[in-house]
Amino acid sequence: MSDLFITGIGHLTTNVASPISDAVVAIDDGTLTYAGTAADAPGQEGRERLDVAGNAVLPGFVDAHTHLVFAGDRSDEFARRLAGESYSDIAASGGGILSTVEATRSASEETLFDLAAQRVWTMIRGGTTTVEIKSGYGLDLETELRLLRVARRIGDELPVTVRTTFLGAHSVPREYHSDRDAYVDLVINEMLPAAADLADFCDVFVEDGVFSVDEARAIFETGMALGLPPRVHAEQLTHLGGAVLAVEIGAASADHLDFVTPDDAAALAKAGVTCVLVPGAAYTLGTPQPSGRTLWDAGCTVALATDCNPGTSYIETMGLVISLGVVQMGLTVEEAICAATRGGALSLGLEDRGSIKEGSPADLIVLDAPSPAHIPYRPATNLVRIVVKEGSVIVG
Ligand code: NIG
Ligand code: FE
Repeated sequence: MSDLFITGIGHLTTNVASPISDAVVAIDDGTLTYAGTAADAPGQEGRERLDVAGNAVLPGFVDAHTHLVFAGDRSDEFARRLAGESYSDIAASGGGILSTVEATRSASEETLFDLAAQRVWTMIRGGTTTVEIKSGYGLDLETELRLLRVARRIGDELPVTVRTTFLGAHSVPREYHSDRDAYVDLVINEMLPAAADLADFCDVFVEDGVFSVDEARAIFETGMALGLPPRVHAEQLTHLGGAVLAVEIGAASADHLDFVTPDDAAALAKAGVTCVLVPGAAYTLGTPQPSGRTLWDAGCTVALATDCNPGTSYIETMGLVISLGVVQMGLTVEEAICAATRGGALSLGLEDRGSIKEGSPADLIVLDAPSPAHIPYRPATNLVRIVVKEGSVIVG
């Protein structure tokens, strides 16, 4: 790692003050020591100069919702949906999450790591510097722990900050279909205690036909007793009450929210539950997006994330997600960028990520464009030219 002096910044997004034109950023020992106008900047001193020729600099993206550790291929389901079958129909006929569970259970830890690492490198090249990774394609004790170990190893071996989430309650596995209560008991009494040291959060897919609000509450209460704050898959395919549950239990986040109501939005805002929107899912399923505008205007903290998974959103990079946030969810460019950086960081309890401020680790990206508006405007181009992770140039 060398100390850096980034000059010629045409547009600096800090998330702590208004954007700055003609800006400079100084980094010493991996920490941001100056972010402001060129006029007030310190001298270059011993730092290495990086002149970005008028391009934009912004915080590294914080992707706060992914299911990226999995094996298998479900492109056939994409074709079936295009031919008219619904996501729920396909799941009910043996496809969906359970088909990924089958492929994932039979993959070795090394294979799962290699597959996940490839995806995470694609994310990093797209500007992601922090990622949340859920388990949920094991649905048995041994495989759920394997997925969490793989997720932790990604954070140890790749230049990315990782937070892990236990999602043993992602679906009821086939072997428990005739006794779902026994599976909920297994999650509560065996899986959660064993997973607690490998996870930072606990998640449940609260959905009609998946886990009820009462089942989820029992799982989350156990998770909280073990030190795992809740993140809730809420109101994705139907309106079932996941958002109100998130409020009741003081969740870190309520995610998806396709069927969120104005009352839910007001309650989420009041409770300070971050709303993690994942527009890749409705985009891939061809269903309507929830309104980011409504949530933002209700006073919610909004985050944007990829939801990277093989069923509903096989999207690795944040550029397209930001574009969908702007074009299909009604957020402004500034709001969408803030949601893809600071919003995600807040939902993960990472106060020092997702912004460019003195004293924080230097996670930032340089675009090949003069302003962040180019990200949603040119959604098919990866405009990320340089990625700096904790002061080291890791891409570029
Ligand atoms: O976030 N909603 C539940 N889980 C994923 C989909 C998982 C899958 O289809 O494999 C989601 O959309
Ligand atoms: Fe999800």
